[in-house]
Amino acid sequence: MKGPVFAANWKMHLGPTEARAFVAAFLARYTPREDRTVVLCPPAISMSAVRDALGDRRDILLGAQNVYSEPKGAFTGETSVAMAADAGARVVLVGHSERRHVFGETDEATARKCALASAQGLVPILCVGETLEQREAGETEQVSLRQLRAGLASLSREQVLSCAIAYEPVWAIGTGRTATPADAAAVHTVIRRELLALAGPGAAGISILYGGSVNRENAAALVAALEVGGLLVGGASLDPESWNAIAST
Ligand code: 13P
Repeated sequence: MKGPVFAANWKMHLGPTEARAFVAAFLARYTPREDRTVVLCPPAISMSAVRDALGDRRDILLGAQNVYSEPKGAFTGETSVAMAADAGARVVLVGHSERRHVFGETDEATARKCALASAQGLVPILCVGETLEQREAGETEQVSLRQLRAGLASLSREQVLSCAIAYEPVWAIGTGRTATPADAAAVHTVIRRELLALAGPGAAGISILYGGSVNRENAAALVAALEVGGLLVGGASLDPESWNAIAST
């Protein structure tokens, strides 16, 4: 993905009808730009509506918020990577903190999802980040690195090179409490170092996104921080005006 990457994670908001209206309103505002990648991650049930509403706008990628850790089978309610790809997804969020903390997703399941997504030709955006408790205990780097290594464990070097990473400190998600650009830069630098160790010099090109209470006021400073290669945005991506301001940063 060409950087910086601006990815919207709508979480459990915007069903097909609202998603169609959102895309129309966003496209009316957003001027396509060659120097960045814009990704929309609607709920699974709205993916086809978003794909249709995007029409031939190849500059905006469709992403899935999650996929299941098995390729197919009797898993009621789940979405496979092949289904997400068939619905038009080019990108998939893996290991989002809500998957880990609300749904109890393990590092092992996250690794399987990364491997399946990668084998399917989708770009996994592997999400990592520490809780407030872990930050206060001085475990920020350790937690993010553990999640990073575990999530990428079953990928080949080439597959690692085609992933993206999102650093989303759990204490900053949906709380209005954003990491400072310096906080983000510190963790992103550690993540970059680890990626270089895992996958060699090509890892300098892996996008590392920051997420957690990003809004139109703080987006420019965060995306300018050292090693920050994009933004993963929840709440502020739900309004076409605000999302346009962020994606046009
Ligand atoms: P908020 O932008 O609402 O804090 O959510 C961040 C996030 O979890 C994006 O994946």
